[in-house]
Amino acid sequence: RKVCVLMGGLSAERAVSLSSGAQVLRALNESGYDARGIDAGPDLRALLADLDADRPDVVFNALHGRFGEDGAIQGVLDWIGIPYTHSGIRASAVAMDKHAARAAFVAAGLPVAAGGLVPVADLAGADPLPLPYVIKPVNEGSSVGVEIIRAGSNTRAAIAAAWSYGPNALVEEFIPGRELTVAVVGDRALTVTDITPNPSMSHGFYDYDAKYAAGGSQHQLPASIHPEAFAQALGIALAAHRALGCSGASRTDFRYDDTRSGDTAPGRLVILEVNTQPGLTPTSLLPEQAAFCGMDFGALCAWMVEHAAC
Ligand code: DAL
Ligand code: MG
Repeated sequence: RKVCVLMGGLSAERAVSLSSGAQVLRALNESGYDARGIDAGPDLRALLADLDADRPDVVFNALHGRFGEDGAIQGVLDWIGIPYTHSGIRASAVAMDKHAARAAFVAAGLPVAAGGLVPVADLAGADPLPLPYVIKPVNEGSSVGVEIIRAGSNTRAAIAAAWSYGPNALVEEFIPGRELTVAVVGDRALTVTDITPNPSMSHGFYDYDAKYAAGGSQHQLPASIHPEAFAQALGIALAAHRALGCSGASRTDFRYDDTRSGDTAPGRLVILEVNTQPGLTPTSLLPEQAAFCGMDFGALCAWMVEHAAC
């Protein structure tokens, strides 16, 4: 089957997508597909001409971030009638807007941190939440633009002055403890990974460097957390995937506060977000969970192509 791997794109996660796309392209060709990569650059007419010349049976969407993960490219592909991997317009648009996604999670009875939208200009004024809290762009990925405000750090005015992510910021209560993630493939939540950023390569949390530098973080899977919390994380990831109407694969990121409960009782689990275009790079989490479940990278990519429902 002929597959076109869309990669690169226009977002702040362009480099991540080129890495995801290169891996996918290699894996699909090794698995017997006739796969070709296309860099989804700024010229939409050139992209349409490439797709028209290539006439793929399926588009493998290896884009991340704006235009690739927010419903934009999904709309283009719906319009021209080429099936594609991962989620459709609506799930993509809602998941990419962290504020809209929070509302969908709350409506579905799923746990989120305290917080909300704040006009960026107001960040220079009083603290919008008790310390510590997190300031993040409403629609970026890979922790681009994420800042943690702790007691004694007086950086809000500088953050507001340098802000380039739209008129509003999302502020959320900082949840101490662990960073967990659960991938969903089809109707199955795979496992729970416990992520520890390498302190010498990150800035105190699972940021861009910790995500993509080799050795930037350590992944323990399956996570050794309280068994009830483990089961809850699997259930919430599946419920979140369904609440947003995701298709194919997604990955739900969590904070898990076990600082008081330890191993004796389940701690507090909150959803950070659902990624409808989870990373497929050499350091990414979905491929690692799939491999743990017996699905190697080639099989994972082939599954996505064969289940391109949108
Ligand atoms: N946004 C990156 C690609 C991820 O969630 O894996
Ligand atoms: Mg993300």
